[in-house]
Amino acid sequence: MLALIASKQGFRPPYLQSIYLPQAKQLQFGHNINWMEEQDIYSIIGEAGFEDLVAHFYRHVPADDILGPLYRGRDLAGAEKRLREFLIYRFGGPARYIEERGHPRLRMRHAPFAIDHPARDRWLRLIASALEETNMPAEAKEILWTYFESTATAMINQAG
Ligand code: HEM
Repeated sequence: MLALIASKQGFRPPYLQSIYLPQAKQLQFGHNINWMEEQDIYSIIGEAGFEDLVAHFYRHVPADDILGPLYRGRDLAGAEKRLREFLIYRFGGPARYIEERGHPRLRMRHAPFAIDHPARDRWLRLIASALEETNMPAEAKEILWTYFESTATAMINQAG
C-alpha cells in the first residue's frame, strides 16, 4: 500500500519496477498500464496458486460476522469455484469462467447483496490475509492486491 502511494508520487520502489511497462506501452494501453503483467500471473502461480488463495479466503467467510450472513444458505463450494475460475480467466488462464457463466458483469451479479463500505473493507481484509498465507512472488501479490482494492470498491452498492 505504501508502495502504491509512493509510486503515485513518482517514487518507485525497486521491487515494483518490473511490474510497470515502459512509457510507450503505457501510452498504447492507456489507463490499464499493468495489463501485460496481469496476464502473466496465471503462468507464474498456476491453478494451484489461485486454488490456494481462494480456499484461504473462503475458509474464513462462514464465521465472519459481516460476510458470513451475506453467504448464509448459499452454495459456498460453488461460490469458491466461481471466484477461482473468474480470477484464473482474468489473470491470463483458461476462460472456463466465461464458458460456464458468460460475461462477468461483476457489479450486476453483486447487486442482490447489500455491500457497504464496511463489507468492502472486510472482504479486502480477508483477501489480504489469504494473500499473506499463500506462497507466491511479491510482484504477483502486488498486482492482485491492486486489482482487488479497486474492484472491491466498485462493488459497493449501499451507503454505510
Ligand atoms: C475484488 C473484489 C471482488 C471480486 C473479484 C468478486 C468476485 C466474485 C465472483 C466472480 C462471484 C461469482 C459471480 C457468479 O459467477 O455468479 C462473486 C459472488 C459473490 N460475491 Fe464477490 N467479488 C468481489 C467483491 C465482493 C465483495 C466486496 C463482497 C461483499 C462484501 C462480495 C460478495 C459476494 C457474494 C455474496 C457472492 C455470491 C456468492 C455466490 O453465491 O455465488 N464480493 N464475487
